[in-house]
Amino acid sequence: MIKKIAVLTSGGDSPGMNAAIRSIVRTSYNNKIKVIGILNGYLGLCENKMINLNINTVSNIINKGGTFLGTARYIDFFNKKTRKIAIKNMKKKGIDALIVIGGNGTYAGANELHKMNFPCIGIPGTIDNDVFGTDYTIGYSTALETIVESIDRLRDTSSSHQRISIVEIMGRNCGDLTLSAAIAGGCEFIVIPEIKYNEKKLIKKIKKSLKKGKKHAVIAMTEHICDVKKLAKIIEFHTKKETRATILGHIQRGGAPVAFDRILASKMGFFSINLLLKRKFGKCIGIKNDKITYHDINHALKFMKKKLNKKLIILSKNLY
Ligand code: F6P
Repeated sequence: MIKKIAVLTSGGDSPGMNAAIRSIVRTSYNNKIKVIGILNGYLGLCENKMINLNINTVSNIINKGGTFLGTARYIDFFNKKTRKIAIKNMKKKGIDALIVIGGNGTYAGANELHKMNFPCIGIPGTIDNDVFGTDYTIGYSTALETIVESIDRLRDTSSSHQRISIVEIMGRNCGDLTLSAAIAGGCEFIVIPEIKYNEKKLIKKIKKSLKKGKKHAVIAMTEHICDVKKLAKIIEFHTKKETRATILGHIQRGGAPVAFDRILASKMGFFSINLLLKRKFGKCIGIKNDKITYHDINHALKFMKKKLNKKLIILSKNLY
């Protein structure tokens, strides 16, 4: 019987994590399950930083960005000795199962705990939308809105000055955020990690569009592909058009979650408790075609590289 559980958020924070914690706590309360909140992810788990959560401690957080439990990237958790400390700390507190909210790194930690026979459930919380087994991760939709708003602003000034603007977008190795933001923001050029980057080809395409009469352009590019500041200089040199690069950075991770993320987080939090009640452990939750589902975390990690939506690529190519 599951009587007491713990919840933690780990890795990069994302808007909607608080809504997920709230849902877990409230659903647990309605099923007579006690909830412990772990501070600062797996690090806090090993440092024994735990707080009691109840229906009141999660009041007024559904609309707040970030995670009130705190988060961390804690590489040492991949050390078995470290995980043994974590399990010992949870057992001492009488914790029967752990729910983790985060991305692939967070899932990897939960999978290791599951292999050590500690019951875990994963909820996908990351702006990157790069987790296998779900159409959307918690936080992705909010980040997308933030990025599109930023692109709109860049478009205003780049149009006034007849400049080329490069906007660097987060996503780690996943082009989902960039592709969707570029379509919504009407960007003229899209560079994502899933399609081999060729600087010469990009410059050729920009020159061609300038010849056709384009006065300004916005290039949407996923982070880690190249140095966008240097690229701006190269484009300026070849096109004789003033070019500026903007790195949106961590602005993309903050802010109040949009309604979609709040609802998704609430659904997933609720579903996670139901999985635990059915004694389904080592699972991660997803939404597929508007239906909440689950997979083995192990399986999700094996196919870690989520496939990019090809239809969106075709669409983007037809819009210019
Ligand atoms: O995984 C979310 C994310 O924001 C990525 O898009 C980005 O590459 C990374 O985290 C940044 O990490 P940090 O906040 O540790 O700099």
